[in-house]
Amino acid sequence: MVVACWSPKGGSGTTVVACGIAALLARAEPPAGALLVDLAGDAAAVLGVADPSGPGLTEWLAAGADVGASALARLEVEAAPGLRLLAGHLAGAGARPGAGRAEALLEALSADPRPVVVDCGTGTGGPGLALAAGAQVSLLVLRPCYLGLRRALAAPLRPSGVVLVSEPGRSLGRRDVEEVLGVAVRAEVPVDDGIARAVDAGLLARRVPRPLERALRPIAGAGRGRAGRDAA
Ligand SMILES: Nc1ncnc2c1ncn2[C@@H]1O[C@H](COP(=O)(O)OP(=O)(O)O)[C@@H](O)[C@H]1O
Ligand SMILES: [Mg+2]
Repeated sequence: MVVACWSPKGGSGTTVVACGIAALLARAEPPAGALLVDLAGDAAAVLGVADPSGPGLTEWLAAGADVGASALARLEVEAAPGLRLLAGHLAGAGARPGAGRAEALLEALSADPRPVVVDCGTGTGGPGLALAAGAQVSLLVLRPCYLGLRRALAAPLRPSGVVLVSEPGRSLGRRDVEEVLGVAVRAEVPVDDGIARAVDAGLLARRVPRPLERALRPIAGAGRGRAGRDAA
């Protein structure tokens, strides 16, 4: 099962949500492990992993059809117990994806027996769009503000669910977002100092902060169940 996380606006918390879901899936019992695919460039830093050197996902996407799904496994690194990371890296950021490569990536990830979480970043351009549009679960990560909602409405794809990253006292809440977008809010992640500190320390995967775990557990639980059924 592929869960794609994306946002029409940077700074929404997309990477934090994607890393959090992947970390919870990786720790699940029985341990099946999970794969986090980073199309946005920040996951290694948030997980406390050295930025990959050598070829990465960026190069795989830029390669021709002769470089197949089996090459992807060689690009993974261990980010935490049970959690593998497949990332592009900053050195390859200028490489442009070849025709049909995003679709080939989606096909390879859909066939993976592990639960897969993709950080699609702003998801509105490049391979992130194909992944966010084609994933079984497509989560829009949104700060509930007018500008975020405006951009979400203008996005070229519809999510299957919304994850709100909210501060208390916002005038727009869950109901407003559901009404405007016509999509269910699947989780509400609080803006929390402990989450921000875990991100800055690169410790998010090793010690998922409690408020993040509490908010994302239902999504990770559903993902695990579905991945188990897919594998069966
Ligand atoms: N729930 C949260 N609580 C506190 N800080 C957060 C939370 N989510 C994100 N942040 C902070 O906001 C910044 C942007 O988050 P990030 O996940 O990188 O956004 P995006 O990937 O959408 O650009 C990060 O530096 C992180 O520390
Ligand atoms: Mg990000």
